[in-house]
Parts: sequence; C-alpha cells; structure tokens
Amino acid sequence: MHGVHTLSKMQSIKDTDFQKIADIVHRYAGITLGPNKKNLVVSRLSGRLRQLEMPTFSEYVRYLRARNVPPEEIRHMINAITTNTTHFFREQHHFEVLENYLRKIVALKMPANQKRLRIWCAASSTGQEPYSIAMTVYRVFHGQTVWDLKIMASDIDTNVLTFASRGEYSETEMKNVSALDKARFFSWREATSVYTVKPTIRKLIVFRKINLIYDALDFNEPIDVVFCRNVMIYFSSENREALLSKLHRCLGDRGILFLGHSESIPLVNRQFEYVDTTVYRKRSPND
Ligand SMILES: C[S@@+](CC[C@H](N)C(=O)[O-])C[C@H]1O[C@@H](n2cnc3c(N)ncnc32)[C@H](O)[C@@H]1O
Repeated sequence: MHGVHTLSKMQSIKDTDFQKIADIVHRYAGITLGPNKKNLVVSRLSGRLRQLEMPTFSEYVRYLRARNVPPEEIRHMINAITTNTTHFFREQHHFEVLENYLRKIVALKMPANQKRLRIWCAASSTGQEPYSIAMTVYRVFHGQTVWDLKIMASDIDTNVLTFASRGEYSETEMKNVSALDKARFFSWREATSVYTVKPTIRKLIVFRKINLIYDALDFNEPIDVVFCRNVMIYFSSENREALLSKLHRCLGDRGILFLGHSESIPLVNRQFEYVDTTVYRKRSPND
C-alpha cells in the first residue's frame, strides 16, 4: 500500500524532459541514464523541485538549460542522481588480496627512501570503502614508522564527500565491522549511538572531489593501488575504456587495480593482467 501511495504522489516527467536531463547528466558526469531510469530520475529529483518550488520537470529543465543557471545547480542535480550504495568491507576477498599484497611489500627489503605507499579509492561514496582500506593498511603497517602512507579518497558527489570526511556511522552501517575492529578503530558515543572513526585511521585519508570522466587524473606521483569499484557500471563502454586507460597511466609499475564484482577486464588486455577475481595488475612494458 505504501508503494502505491508514493507512486500516485510521484511527479511525472515527459520523455523529452527526461532525455534533456539524461543528456546533461552524461555531459557532466559521464553517467548513462537509459529510458528505464525515468522513475529513478523522478524520485531522485522531486525533492530538488520542491526546494526550488518548481511545479514541473519542464520548468526545472528550462532552468537547468538557461544560460545563467548557477553552477551549484548542476552540482545539486548530479549529487541527487548518483547512486551511493556501499558498505564496510564490501567484497571481503578484495581486502584479503590487499592485505597479502601489503604484507609482501613490507617484507621486501627496500631502502628507507622507497618506503612509500599511495592508494586511491576512486569512487569512495560515504567513506566505508576508504576506511576499510585504511583499517587494512593500519593492520599491516602499524609500528612501521619509516613508511610514508597516504590514501586518497574521491567522488564526484560533494554530499557524500562531506559525510565521509566526518567519519560517523550508525550501528546498522557498522554491521560488517568486527567487534575487534570496532573497538580498535572507532569510538562509540552512547548518547548519539554513533561510531566515529579514530584519528589513527582518519589521518591516513585525504578526501577530494574528482570526476573520473572529465578530470585529467594527472597526479604528481604514481599510485600503487587503485580501488575503482562499482562505478564503471554507470558509464558507456567508450567511457569505461577511456577510464581504464587513464587508471593505467596513474598506476605505478605493476600497480594493482580493484574493480567491482560485475566489472571485469577482458582476459587478453594489453594494459592489465589478471591477479584474482576482479583484481588486475598493470602490465610493465617488459611483460
Ligand atoms: C555505487 S557507489 C560505489 C561506492 C564504492 N566504490 C563501493 O564499491 O562500495 C558509486 C559512486 O560513484 C560515484 N560516481 C558516479 N559517477 C562518477 C564520476 N563521473 N566520477 C567520480 N565518481 C562518480 C557516485 O557518486 C557514487 O558515490
């Protein structure tokens, strides 16, 4: 009954207005919205129409396409459209692969000036993914004082970046975090029922807004590990290919790339070789 009630109250959108919104979303975020995403667009943007006191999607589309549309409006619209589903230690096996990889790096007898690790979590949503990475890093590197460690977490959606950088999660959001990790890496406030990431973990991460499709992704140092999970599914095959090439350029020699469970790279690929399920290694020119 609840669903029927909600549907009957839902705004409707004309096909032409839907297409114009889909074009704008594609132009700014590279996200492809097929005709089956009409209801998604209506439900995600209805709140924005209410805030702007606009009675119809036609009016909203006119506003979005006006020459003087404030740039923040495009940001609000993209923030509302993105799907941000995530959770702690999603695809647990990836964190086992990461931990093994990190332990191997630590075991290598490198000179102090090469003890540097850069990890990029490229569609970090509300933060559970970069914090899961940071907990894994901490477990391996705790006590290794000479190592220079940094995790960069980025997303196109500025709302999720603000949420993530606060590092506060409810009991429900913490359901995949073990009791041991909760005690070690979070502080719990009874009055608010909120778990807050401890500074030891928080300080490993910097959050930045990065658009994977339209930003250059020119970093000033090579990245050792990239997590780019469950975001390529929203892109066209051309955009996916272009992004994989950009990620290939960002990665250092034999750097590791983690993709989402339904995202894979063809087995015969010039740029990457298979390591484990949806985990790839950058091929070096001598391979
Ligand atoms: C489904 S979530 C995946 C979160 C996390 N990587 C995981 O696997 O749990 C997809 C994220 O990709 C972000 N996103 C979508 N398009 C993007 C783009 N063009 N550039 C950067 N991030 C984007 C969304 O804002 C969203 O937070």
